[in-house]
Amino acid sequence: MSITYHAARKQFTLAGRNFSYIFHVTDEAYLNHLYYGAKLSDGADLTYRYQKCTENDYAGQIDGTPAKYTSLMPEYSQSNYGDFRAAAILIEDGDGAPVIDLRYSGHEILPQKPRIASGIPVARGGETLAVTLTDAYLNVDVVLYYTVYEDCGILTRRAEIRNRGRKPIRLKRALSVSLDFPDADFELLTLVGNHACERQVRKTPLTVGFVGVGNSRGMSSHHHSPFAALMRPDCREESGEIYGCSLMYSGSHLEQAEVDHGNRTRLLCGIQPQNFTWVLEPGEAFETPEAVLCYSSCGMGAMSRSYHDFFRQYVLPPRFVGQPRPIVFNSWEGMHFGFSQESLMHAIEGMRGSGIELFVLDDGWFGRRNSATAGLGDWTVNTQKLPGGLRAVADCCRENGMRFGLWIEPEMVNPDSNLYRAHPDWIIRAPGRAPVLSRNQCVLDLTRREVLDFIKSEMYRVISESGASYIKWDANRHLTENWSAGLSPERQGEVQHRYILAVYELAEYLTSSFPDILFEGCSGGGGRFDGAMLHYFPQIWVSDDTDAHERTGIQYGTGMCFPLCAQSCHVSGVPNIRNGRVIPLRTRAAIASLGIYGYEFDCNALPPEERAQIPADIAAYRRIEDLVLNGDLYRMKNTAESNEFSVALVSKDRSRAYAVYYQALNPHKNAPQVRINGLDDHRLYRIEELNLVLYGDVLRSVGIQLPRMHQDFDVCTLHIEAVSDAAEKREEMPEP
Ligand code: DGJ
Repeated sequence: MSITYHAARKQFTLAGRNFSYIFHVTDEAYLNHLYYGAKLSDGADLTYRYQKCTENDYAGQIDGTPAKYTSLMPEYSQSNYGDFRAAAILIEDGDGAPVIDLRYSGHEILPQKPRIASGIPVARGGETLAVTLTDAYLNVDVVLYYTVYEDCGILTRRAEIRNRGRKPIRLKRALSVSLDFPDADFELLTLVGNHACERQVRKTPLTVGFVGVGNSRGMSSHHHSPFAALMRPDCREESGEIYGCSLMYSGSHLEQAEVDHGNRTRLLCGIQPQNFTWVLEPGEAFETPEAVLCYSSCGMGAMSRSYHDFFRQYVLPPRFVGQPRPIVFNSWEGMHFGFSQESLMHAIEGMRGSGIELFVLDDGWFGRRNSATAGLGDWTVNTQKLPGGLRAVADCCRENGMRFGLWIEPEMVNPDSNLYRAHPDWIIRAPGRAPVLSRNQCVLDLTRREVLDFIKSEMYRVISESGASYIKWDANRHLTENWSAGLSPERQGEVQHRYILAVYELAEYLTSSFPDILFEGCSGGGGRFDGAMLHYFPQIWVSDDTDAHERTGIQYGTGMCFPLCAQSCHVSGVPNIRNGRVIPLRTRAAIASLGIYGYEFDCNALPPEERAQIPADIAAYRRIEDLVLNGDLYRMKNTAESNEFSVALVSKDRSRAYAVYYQALNPHKNAPQVRINGLDDHRLYRIEELNLVLYGDVLRSVGIQLPRMHQDFDVCTLHIEAVSDAAEKREEMPEP
């Protein structure tokens, strides 16, 4: 049983593989957090931790905090009733009073995770605790849902706010998680960045006040990933305590840690309150996105592996999990908008027999889309470029042993397009003001039913007529004015959330209409890489920066939370189109092999020896692909902290591993040393490339010396295989 309730103590215990999460109901009926951390004995009574303070206890204190809030750690923090810290919920009632006072009114342990009505993707799951808190004056319930994923050490949380009263209330903040800790001995790990520089790992020590990330862009964004982790200062890759929080949401979000005057920490996570309000009419409910909490006492690496298992097992579309994906060649970096039917066919024919299995026609195939300035929204083939239509390209692919894939950007429109000319009022804009452009485009107001239905039918038509078996879904700008002609003035704060709900409806419609098509997510690179998108897209384009060196940092950060089988990584040409860097092909291939492997480059500029190498590189990838799809990731070095990057992908049964060691600048000194984590200590392993046989513990603690490297940006890959299961072999083989 992962969820238990002790009636006499009024204590709830949620127990995963490695953690306990405990809270109770106080005598004033508050739901009070008691503990989250390493797994405790079954039946542990933690109610002693709550020592209620009264005004008399604090008679001498005049700091202005009502006494009970100096001892309460609310499971769902509330505002304007004595707790001065940032809160999970903020409302205005019919009188404009901003007060909510939530007390326990009941709970249920449900055998199955309940369905979510609004369409926000949540993880598949089983037994779920639903605790109802009620504001008796307002007749408002907040139901807190907790689902334990015992096998991967994960706990998910979300909240549902129900208005049972007679008057509307206005939600001004409705977060998914509020999690209090009695101390502040933490750093906050966040994933921050920019376009072509996504998810860089940043660690910030907590101090009194706020530390956090979040955005108001209407997309989860390149800039701030919807993820944060509280880590103990001594937490390292494979040791120490860390608490991760990943929000399954693709819109504006907030992840924030606050340390108060009493040196306590509150972690909040959910929909970004800026630009958010929601009018809840009597009888209506508002569902927050789901947050995925992960506790590890064995460092960042163990946290990441738990998240990877969780996303693979409970979030990614099951039909793609563990399945080899096609090796794609994408037209973008090599051709941009400047292709013709002839040049596409030339590229496709040039890749015949290379092992590439699917050719993706990226942006530029429709309308007057000869640059980013026009045509977006006009989803009819540009017959000047492609006189034979998409069919001719798809046929050419088939004739050359490949399948066909297509790029779409359904949410957007260029003002210079027939769609915009026909429906200038269909975009998100503010009345009386010129629309804000970004990449020369506007965001379609998908919150309006007629716009969403039009895009649904357009995309259905495009995909079904295209002959594609792969679709790349892009989104290249963020939301600005956040106003919709379809909503009344008091509901304009709902635009961003309604927009992302519409995106989910569109994604659900298209992915379920075409269940055999592989959809790849993309947003100007990796600008919408989040758990909710993974519910639809088994893989997402990690970044528009394809330089292998930069990718070590981007893939390192992305892997903090997301599995390698969701990370789309391509070998691109040199000099790299973004930074001009020239990196050897073997290094580009090795770094791309740490994800879903593919290619994109200018075929005309491809040196013949690199073309000749592609079949061997694809075969090499196929050899380790199961480790990318299903294996455990162990990180040993990263370029954020050193000149080196090294990881090992280890099979679940630890019988095989694939390790990549990369060195940025060649220091021209001793040969590189590397330790390999993740293997069984007492098993012998053969390292094919070095012809060495060593015990797992030797590989982990002593390490190996690699051949000297002779240039910058060089790489060494290692294939490691168990030669014996038997610990007794240890006697026979002396350790080196
Ligand atoms: C941004 C994507 O990340 C690129 O891969 C490419 O598809 C372009 N958009 C096309 O406009």
